[in-house]
Amino acid sequence: MERLKKEKQGRTELMWWPSKECKKRAFVKSKKIYEEAGKNPIKFWENAAKELVWFKKWNKAFLFEPPHFKWFVGGKINISYNCLERNLEKRKDKIALIWEPEPINEKTRYLSYYELFREVNKFANALKELGVKKKDVVGIYMPMIPETIIAMLASARIGAIHTVVFSAFSPEALRIRLKETNAKVLITADGYYRKGSVINLKKYADEGVRKTDVEKVVVVKRIGKKLRLRRREHFFNELIEGQKEYCKPEAMNSEDILFILFTSGSTGKPKGVIHVCGGYTVQAYLTTKYIFNLLDDDIFWSTADIGWITGHTYSCYGPLLNGATFVLYEGALDYPKADRWQQMIKKHRVTVFYTAPTAIRMFEKEVAKVKEKLDSLKIIASVGEPINEEAWLWFFKEVGKERCPLLDTYWQTETGGILITSLPGVGPFKPTFAGLPFPGVKVSILDEKGNECKANEKGNLVVLPPFPPGMLRGIYKNEKKYRETYFSKFGNKIYFTSDIAYKDEKGLIRIVGRSDDVIKVAAHRLSTGELENIVEKDKRVSECAVVGIPDKIKGQVIAVFVVTKTKEKIKKEEINEILVKGIGKIAKPKFVFFVSELPKTRSGKIMRRILRNLLTKQPLGDISTLQNPRCVEEIKKVIS
Ligand code: WTA
Repeated sequence: MERLKKEKQGRTELMWWPSKECKKRAFVKSKKIYEEAGKNPIKFWENAAKELVWFKKWNKAFLFEPPHFKWFVGGKINISYNCLERNLEKRKDKIALIWEPEPINEKTRYLSYYELFREVNKFANALKELGVKKKDVVGIYMPMIPETIIAMLASARIGAIHTVVFSAFSPEALRIRLKETNAKVLITADGYYRKGSVINLKKYADEGVRKTDVEKVVVVKRIGKKLRLRRREHFFNELIEGQKEYCKPEAMNSEDILFILFTSGSTGKPKGVIHVCGGYTVQAYLTTKYIFNLLDDDIFWSTADIGWITGHTYSCYGPLLNGATFVLYEGALDYPKADRWQQMIKKHRVTVFYTAPTAIRMFEKEVAKVKEKLDSLKIIASVGEPINEEAWLWFFKEVGKERCPLLDTYWQTETGGILITSLPGVGPFKPTFAGLPFPGVKVSILDEKGNECKANEKGNLVVLPPFPPGMLRGIYKNEKKYRETYFSKFGNKIYFTSDIAYKDEKGLIRIVGRSDDVIKVAAHRLSTGELENIVEKDKRVSECAVVGIPDKIKGQVIAVFVVTKTKEKIKKEEINEILVKGIGKIAKPKFVFFVSELPKTRSGKIMRRILRNLLTKQPLGDISTLQNPRCVEEIKKVIS
């Protein structure tokens, strides 16, 4: 195998280019594609759409009524048909899904395209029997098991809208999402394994469905716990027994909702991001094809949980739309030993490995030198947060052995698919730079006035029309939020990402970080406002401020500053408990501080920057707008 080529000129700059071997395998081998797609992005996406099966062709490719837009208008499609039937002719017996349970003594499960097709059809019929109709919302609160994929595809098949809730979210977080969407059915499991322990998911689900509109609950037996079901509850395996092996897919309008996925924004409440049937399918298909370059002998492993957008697009829909084989892993990457992820790559001969910087840093810390050969790997990739140079180089050298392109992929829940990355057959691969916008995607970096920034000047990353087809179509039941969050800062024709970025002289983009109060803890997206709201619900708390501070492994960790009401007492452990109950274990703070006042501007806005800078021992910056400068001294003492 050839090594990637290193850039010769520019001695200070580290950069690699694809080897002949990479180019040979790649769908995209030349830079020309950027030019061609750039000339007519609408046609570019239309050509991609033509590779899929449509029940009816669209009559208008792109329709823009700012800030709203539509793609493939008039077209009819079903994503489950494109994931399954479209592959049956050529790949009936090809493995679609390899499922690896966490306990090592348990058997791996393999599902061929035909088997997956059959199970999805049976479950789709079962959902219909439960009364689920087109446009009903189905909640999915499931671990990483094949039935989760089956449930998503079955919902999509009958035109129901799925809303997947991360299995490590708390019952309260589940309840909020089920309520907001008026979900009719919840699909869950009796439990799952995580770091050797059994997580009792059904118990959480029981709490989460209380006071919601959920009428029926389907329970997958994952751990085989003895359960006595209530009247409205059914076991998955009993439900599909005797179901017909074919269920006609609904012909969905291109702009019908495919799924709602909640994500955190700047404010207190999670937002239900809407993705639609046509455009999302096209973008998931094409980005997976060109970026991960899945050929028939590839085995793709994306470590993202299905509860997040990466799980939707690249642990489910993208690989299936490309007729690829992908790995779904139930548990922790470092269980029972630190090298579990390496053992997985070896065992399944993984060729494309997609993970997050937080995992990469953990690998580096735990194993330092990778002794295993991992010679099956062809492409390695990262997502979720900026990747620091040390982690980039370690991943590239130790895991990819300077042989595999390292793709740093930038995107968001809202964008549905990857927006910025280098392509494996084109390159370049430059540490900490995501690369160029995907063909057909137009982005820009703007200063506060909306002027384009020069090379190396930091600014606001925005997306320009025609927006890629997989981008969000709205926030569920909240038009105002859609307009305010994405289409107000630079007008209603420019999508504002809330990320800060800059370009180098070659136009390669580096993402610096968020400009709002969204934080990433071990790649999980959380909002400081949402965490604050939860803590402030406690009657003893007068107010609180949450900040994300840098952490070597997790990217960011949570620090909470609490002001209690006079005479009230509350313990650190109680704050932890409140957050774990409100959101889940991922929201457990690293630091909790009790102070008598928070730094505020004259208009009463909390100055989180001051708290952050105090904690990280940075200069405080401009504090002339601070209304209560004396509190700084107290805070310094408390955190020291
Ligand atoms: C950040 C995850 C730097 C960014 C797919 C974005 C990144 C937010 C990268 C979205 C990357 C994602 N480099 N930052 N390669 N990928 N981000 O919705 O701040 O969970 O806005 O989607 O993660 O997070 P989300």
